[in-house]
Amino acid sequence: MNRLITVVSLFLGVLMISCNSARRSEIYSPDADVKVRLNLDEGVPFYRVYYKDQLVIGKSRLGLQFKNLDNLDREIIAVDCDTIMHREQWKPVWGQTSSIRNDYNEVVWTLRNEARLEMKVHFRVFDDGIAFRYVMPNNSLVDSVLVSKELSQFNIKGNPDSWSIPANFDTYEMLYRHKRLSQVKNANTPITMKREDGVYLSIHEANLTNYAGMTLDNLGGNNILESNLVPWPDGVKVRLKAGLVSPWRTVQIASKAGDLITSNMILNLNEPSRINTTDWIKPMKYVGVWWGMHIGTEVWTEGERHGATTENSKRYIDFAHEHGFKGFLPEGWNKGWDKWGQRGAFDQITPAKDFNLLEVAQYAKEKGVGFIGHHETGGDIPTYEKNMDAAFKLLGDVGAVGVKTGYAGGIYPRGQHHHGQFMVNHYRRVVKTAAKYHLMVDAHEPIKATGIARTWPNMMTREGVRGQEWNGWSKGNPPSHYATIPFTRMLGGPIDYTPGIFDLLIKNKKDQRVKWNCDDLSITRVHTTLAKQLANYVVLFSPWQMVADLPENMEGNPALKFIEDVPTTWDETLVPIAEIGEHVVIARRRGNNWFVGGLTDEKPRDSKLALNFLDGNRKYYATIYKDSKDTDFDTAPERIAIETKEVSTHDVLNIHMVKGGGFAIKIVPLN
Ligand code: NOJ
Ligand code: CA
Repeated sequence: MNRLITVVSLFLGVLMISCNSARRSEIYSPDADVKVRLNLDEGVPFYRVYYKDQLVIGKSRLGLQFKNLDNLDREIIAVDCDTIMHREQWKPVWGQTSSIRNDYNEVVWTLRNEARLEMKVHFRVFDDGIAFRYVMPNNSLVDSVLVSKELSQFNIKGNPDSWSIPANFDTYEMLYRHKRLSQVKNANTPITMKREDGVYLSIHEANLTNYAGMTLDNLGGNNILESNLVPWPDGVKVRLKAGLVSPWRTVQIASKAGDLITSNMILNLNEPSRINTTDWIKPMKYVGVWWGMHIGTEVWTEGERHGATTENSKRYIDFAHEHGFKGFLPEGWNKGWDKWGQRGAFDQITPAKDFNLLEVAQYAKEKGVGFIGHHETGGDIPTYEKNMDAAFKLLGDVGAVGVKTGYAGGIYPRGQHHHGQFMVNHYRRVVKTAAKYHLMVDAHEPIKATGIARTWPNMMTREGVRGQEWNGWSKGNPPSHYATIPFTRMLGGPIDYTPGIFDLLIKNKKDQRVKWNCDDLSITRVHTTLAKQLANYVVLFSPWQMVADLPENMEGNPALKFIEDVPTTWDETLVPIAEIGEHVVIARRRGNNWFVGGLTDEKPRDSKLALNFLDGNRKYYATIYKDSKDTDFDTAPERIAIETKEVSTHDVLNIHMVKGGGFAIKIVPLN
């Protein structure tokens, strides 16, 4: 019987990938809903993508142009075509789910130009999207490869709704635009789209390694999006000694918005873990000397208002210990903050004079709290690279569990960009060096997430989003932001948004706040209710989650119990309700317990949540944290109602969310 199944599926497999001539091929996804067609048209390579028989990506060009070689984008001869069927199940070290299927059909198309330069284009077709990459083998005739342009196009049919941030070579910390695609001139990825027939597409990249980050330009007319790689100072996009392996260009395809969130395609396109023993890689919630600096009651620099003193650090560690939070981050622990922005400013090795590194690290250890180092670089890469080994060794020596890195500032050497190949390689060097010392990494001002955590599972989380800090010193992030980033930025991977602000109107220590980089402190507040802050722990996936407020603002508040209880990694993830930019509800299971987060934009809403994901043979006990009758976004966002009740799979919960509100639920089985 098994043999019969194998024979039948092999036969089907052959039908699903046809490479009948090297000039034209068709590949179907394992469920046959997604189809890619490849062809050469007068020597120019093209692809098209169909979803359930609809053309979703029309005739789109492929190819590479070089500064020093004959281009591989026209006058091409197709020389060969191979097919691969891949079926696999793997277990991530941590994730949104404990087990992942990686099933695709692949075509490897070998193309050659008149100079006999060869390139393979790999196309993988999954049930949840498509991906392609360029591979040039090492060629003894070529001693370097200088890419001047990548011609990957995405000819988006129709004029879908879209959510994206503008293309930018140095930051992802922007608000998302919701616009018809024709109104979008350029974008960073992920860019997510909803077609008129309700089909969702999201373009991004996977396994960004030794290459430049990709932005997209809209060539106009028919919404042809074209790759625009982040350049080196001399304009070259990618420089390689020999050979080339590009990241995967990805298009996630889904008929429900929530299916974008549960798709594992980006991770699947990365290589298996290079770290063998992973017992030191630990998801956790962490506290830190942090929010005080962003609201201007403390400073990073040494002196009277210095936040990261030995004494203040111990206060945070005590708080973490009491509430079971496993990490502590002291920002401003070291020298250099007074020269932020200058070349050679930051010293990632020498502690500030009122911060006793050994004493604090030892104190944390005694309290069962992991010490998290902080390496702000201000963008000064040569200095950090000079310090790197010693800085990581120091953290290893004091028993730290991880490091938060930062790149707030223009990159030195000047002319380099945060998202170019030079920095992509730097960021990766940091992850590898950290792994050597058994340290986990949380990168701020990072390169975008492209699933490398499959290969380097110590790459826990990263910012690369307009996060909580913006609420401390600017007009902040509007309520709709939280309903948008799960369908855009989060498709790349975990987000260190740093939720958990309880004093939402920033009333406490008002008299101590100083203008930091904000002229008008009166505009600053956190634009959510407290219930929505709790929802973020479920909605915004991150194996490290900060508990960001000052301890005195959280201590004694019963809402803190939800943060104590909520895990940060999951066995199963579902998205029962999703409308991009408007509202979202995510349910996640860890063991037998379920946690649900729901949130809304500026509009009050009633969520009707069917608990049909619960096990029908069990009864459960739910604790619901929600906006109360007197929660008011403008005047009383901190008010919260906590309700408990027995529930089962047959129940439907009706939960009201106020403007900017949300809810969080813990559901545990009754014995
Ligand atoms: C920006 C980071 O996003 C923030 O978390 C950090 O506190 C500052 N830089 C200082 O490193
Ligand atoms: Ca930042």
